[in-house]
Formats: sequence, C-alpha cells, structure tokens
Amino acid sequence: MEKILVLDFGGQYNQLIARRVRDLKVYAEILPYTTPLEEIARGAYQGIIFTGGPNSVYDPESPHYPAEILDLGIPVLGICYGAQLMAYMLGGTIEHADMREYGRTEVAVQRKSRLFAKIPKKSMFWMSHTDYISRIPEGFAVSALTKDCPCAAMELPEKQLYAVQFHPEVTHSEYGKQLLENFLFGICKCSGDWMMEDFIETTVADLRRQIGDSGVVLGLSGGVDSSVAAALLSRAVGKQLTCVFVDHGLMRKNEGDLVEEAFRDLFPMNFVRINCADQFFDHLKGVSDPEEKRHIIGTQFYEVFWNEIRERYSEGFFAQGTIYPDRIESGKGDAAKIKTHHNQVGLPSDVNFKGVVEPLKDLFKDEVRRVGEKLGLPHDLVWRQPFPGPGLGVRVIGEVTADRVRILQEADAVLRDEIHQSGYASELSQFFAVLPGVRTVGVMGDARTYSELVAIRAVTTDDFMTADWAKIPYEILGKVSSRIINEVEGVNRVVYDISQKPPSTVEWE
Ligand code: XMP
Repeated sequence: MEKILVLDFGGQYNQLIARRVRDLKVYAEILPYTTPLEEIARGAYQGIIFTGGPNSVYDPESPHYPAEILDLGIPVLGICYGAQLMAYMLGGTIEHADMREYGRTEVAVQRKSRLFAKIPKKSMFWMSHTDYISRIPEGFAVSALTKDCPCAAMELPEKQLYAVQFHPEVTHSEYGKQLLENFLFGICKCSGDWMMEDFIETTVADLRRQIGDSGVVLGLSGGVDSSVAAALLSRAVGKQLTCVFVDHGLMRKNEGDLVEEAFRDLFPMNFVRINCADQFFDHLKGVSDPEEKRHIIGTQFYEVFWNEIRERYSEGFFAQGTIYPDRIESGKGDAAKIKTHHNQVGLPSDVNFKGVVEPLKDLFKDEVRRVGEKLGLPHDLVWRQPFPGPGLGVRVIGEVTADRVRILQEADAVLRDEIHQSGYASELSQFFAVLPGVRTVGVMGDARTYSELVAIRAVTTDDFMTADWAKIPYEILGKVSSRIINEVEGVNRVVYDISQKPPSTVEWE
C-alpha cells in the first residue's frame, strides 16, 4: 500500500497535514520525530513531510533529526519549522526576524518548479513564523518569496527535496491543496487510490498476525469508536474476540438493548453484557457534586469492567478503540481541567496481557465512521452523536436516582423522535434533554402540579471546542414541549437552552 510519512515535530497543524493527504486518497501515517531512521527506511514510504513545530532550530531543546533521512532517496517536503530544519541540516542559516510574519501573505513564485505546477505566479498562502531561512544550503534554489521573507520556498529537485515556509495544509492557503497534490502526485508519484477497503484489509491481516490464536478482549461502550474496533476485530479473529459491555443504567432509552442486538446478531464474537445499574445507583445515592459523580461513575466502571476481565480474559490481548485525536489530546499534558473525561480505561498493574491492540489509532473520526459503514455496522450506531462516558449521570443534575433517570430517558426519547421525524437531525451536531432538578408549579386539568422541569440542549459545532445553540424552528420546539409534558409523567415544563460555548459548555455538568 502506498503511503506518506508525516514526521511530527510538534506543530499545531500536524493532524491537518495527514488529513489533507488522506483527502487526496493517499494514506498518511504520522510518526514522532523520535522514530529511528532504520524504521523509517524500512517503512517503504513514497514521500516524507516534515511538519511545523513551535521551536527554533538553534534551541538545544528543539526536535532534530539525523540528516541521513534526506539521503534515503525518498522525496521530502518540509513545512514551516520542517523547512527551516531541512535548511539547517544541510548547512543553511536560519535567523530570527524582528517581526513575526503572520496571516495570508502574497507568495511570488520565482522559477519553474514541479511543486508550484498549476499555481499562479502570485497567490495567497498562510504564514505563521518568526524565524526564517536567511541563507539556503548549497545547491538549493529559492522557488518562492514574499515581501518580507527571502525564502518562502526552496528546492533541490535532483534530490527531490522541497521546503515551504508557509502552511499549504490550512484552507486560508488559496492553492495549498494544489501544492500538496503536486508533491504527492507530481513528485512522489503516488496514484491516489487509497480506500477504506485497503485500510480494512491491511488492518485485518495485521491483527491476525499480531493476535495469532490467542484471545482478545475489548470494552464496548456502544459509542462509535469501540463499536468499529469490535467489528474490525470480529472480522479479523471472529470468536477469539470477547466484547464486554458494562450497562450502568445511564444510557439513553433502550440503548443497551440496541447495542446488544447489533453485536449479537451481526458479528461473530462472544458478547458479555454486565447489567449493574443498581450497583451504580447505590453508589450515587446522596451525591450531587458533578465531579464527584463523574469520579464515582468512572471508578465503578473501572471496577466492574476489570473484575470481569481479570477473572476470565486476562490471558490474551487487550483491545481499545483509541483513535488518532485521543492520542494527541492525551499527550497534550496540562491543558486546564474543565471537566474530567474518562474515555480511556487505564490498565491495572496486576493484569498481564500479551499486548494491547488499537486498530483505529491512526484514523480520524470521519474515517472511523466510513470504516464502520464498510463493515456493515447499523447506520444509527455509526452516526451516533457524542455521548459522555458518565452518560445520563451528568444530565440528571443533582442526585441521580433510577426514577429521575427514567424521566430523563423518556423525555430524551420524545425529543429524539420529534427531531428525527421533522428531518432536522442532520442540522444538529448534538441534542439531548437535561433534568436540571428544578420543580415548578403547573396546572393539569383542575389540579395544581409541582413537577420536574426538562431543558432541551441542541448545538451546532465543528469541533465541540466552541458551539452555538441551534436555531431549531419554533414549531418543532413547540411540538417537543407539548409531547414531553403530555407523555412523560412527572414533567410539567420545558425550556430551551440558548447559551453559547464558551462561556457555557455543551453539557450542563
Ligand atoms: P462540554 O460539555 O465539555 O462537551 O462542552 C464537549 C463534548 O464532550 C462531551 N462530554 C464528555 N464526553 N466524558 C465524555 O466521554 C465526559 O465526561 C464528557 N463531558 C462532556 C459532550 O457530550 C460534548 O460532545
């Protein structure tokens, strides 16, 4: 399978570079700059991209790489820090400018270059740098410049070495896609025929090789990632796979049954469902602090899950549905803690698996969904909205009891039904009901009621880091409200949350 290596020097756009390459139907693999040269040489890459990075090449702490990588005979494209590093490795000079060059900048092409094929002599690219290449290495030619930057691009075509100071991967770069296409197809001679089927085939073969005839156990949450990992593992090793599904009673209405049906019927595997809602409700009794609830749910989950695994399945391999963005986020370090997420289950020290398998670790979310579809997972599972690990535990504000969870499940089911029926679901990134724990006065028939309030939350967003409240038409909201009040016992009022993130968050807790 043809593939491109994205050698990661720590810049903020590294995932995006791989993304863009894959959008052009060439498989891109991201490896850290600490990967040994021999491993890269063995990797049979068609091309290598050095990413940007936050550092200065003269900083002793900055990431470097042995210059021999430029002698492998593999085309290399350096981007931003990657460009400066290439210049530095080959004896060029990097200087610190007084002013940062930042934003959309006119780039003027200086020579006929394969990298700039089909790109006008002058066009806008995205710049973000302070250091710049002040003297290019011997043999290189400057292929583009800007008003402030004497070397916006340089190249040594005989050795297939190319470098650009700007960022072709961001959409602000008018001809960024063309430039990447030129590198991939014009220079690296890729054919652009990478498909999800190839990924499935290669991964299945790798999994079979790695797992052999051992067992493998996977924690299934009902979310997209673990479901797709389960389907892939099932295709690879069938009944050697055991999926453990902990049903903590905090899923949406009927969700546990749907997950069980999907997996029992569709894929060969051993499916183990642990129903432990009562145990979770017991531990949550009297607790209303959100972080404490999260902690209890996380700890209980860990205990139930590992007790099951420890007793019966600790012989073989352990599988996880980790995807690429999880790895990046977990490596980030000290990002301020807003809410605790507990998606990844840590491994207890007393369980000794033969190894850990993470078949989706290099994929982005939408690629995971495409793999899921190709493997025949139900549409609803593949396109499922994000759902917090602690489930409805953080949507029932205050104390979580079986009764209040039931009320929320019913209200949420009505909301989902109406939004789907109205055809509005595709407009929304996430929508759900919340039980704020507020009682209000109402009147039903001739009687006064004093019952729960339900809040509706619906947002549109690209990345969940920021989100806007969705402008759902009043008619739909009206219908949702009257159906919830009529159909869900214990609720007499519905409100709509019109807060943006930030400063609010998507979830209420
Ligand atoms: P917030 O509330 O932080 O949510 O704006 C952003 C996205 O993350 C989901 N979320 C969680 N997911 N465990 C999870 O697995 C959690 O504890 C958790 N809290 C929030 C939320 O549903 C939204 O999609």
